[in-house]
Amino acid sequence: MVCNIAIDGPAGAGKSTIAKLVAKELAFIYVDTGAMYRAIALHLLKKGVRKDDQEEIARECQNACISIAYKDGEQQVFLNGENVTPYLRTEEVGNMASVSSANPKVREWLLNLQRELAGQNSVVMDGRDIGTTILPHADVKIYLTASVETRARRRFLELKEKGAPCDIDEIEKDIRERDERDMNRQVSPLRQAEDAVLVDSSQLDIPEVVKLILQIYEEKMSK
Ligand code: DC
Repeated sequence: MVCNIAIDGPAGAGKSTIAKLVAKELAFIYVDTGAMYRAIALHLLKKGVRKDDQEEIARECQNACISIAYKDGEQQVFLNGENVTPYLRTEEVGNMASVSSANPKVREWLLNLQRELAGQNSVVMDGRDIGTTILPHADVKIYLTASVETRARRRFLELKEKGAPCDIDEIEKDIRERDERDMNRQVSPLRQAEDAVLVDSSQLDIPEVVKLILQIYEEKMSK
């Protein structure tokens, strides 16, 4: 029997860091669905598709064949056979992904891949609609969030560490815009599933959040 843990939440809440560590503790596979949306966004950018051209996004996404594999426990995303993992975490790709992921065709395109992975493996899957749409019967659902200010500060420090030019006010503005889009789109908007446990990480460090989620998992599984 496989076990599925869904972790949803807004941009910058630390989902990927936390989900990865929880997966490692439990020897589950970590599935980063945001990276799949980013790979489609990268494809659209490469093809010169404009953000406001929803028809073209719906058409062109079907030329983006996405698959994943694992190397040293790290998820690698392939776009039409090419490993594009190093190119996915830029602001440009993230902004395009936030727009193109609202397109119903794009969501439909990735739904089966995500469900198949969770059907065949014990996974910790993170995203925006995992607990609500992709895996409504997940064994454990977490809604991981933090204040906008906390998320902006974390993103700022992450970019600074990488030596990337960044401005904290710009990042905060970007996060607010992304929240607005992710939470108010027509298809699969970001929201907490009724049976998800809310974890606010604003005042918690990474090991504390991991410990809390593992406790929630133990409690659910012992019932
Ligand atoms: O988590 P992330 O920043 O890598 O996600 C990039 C974008 O993809 C984000 O703006 C929302 C979207 N996304 C989504 O709509 N559904 C998911 N399951 C994961 C990400």
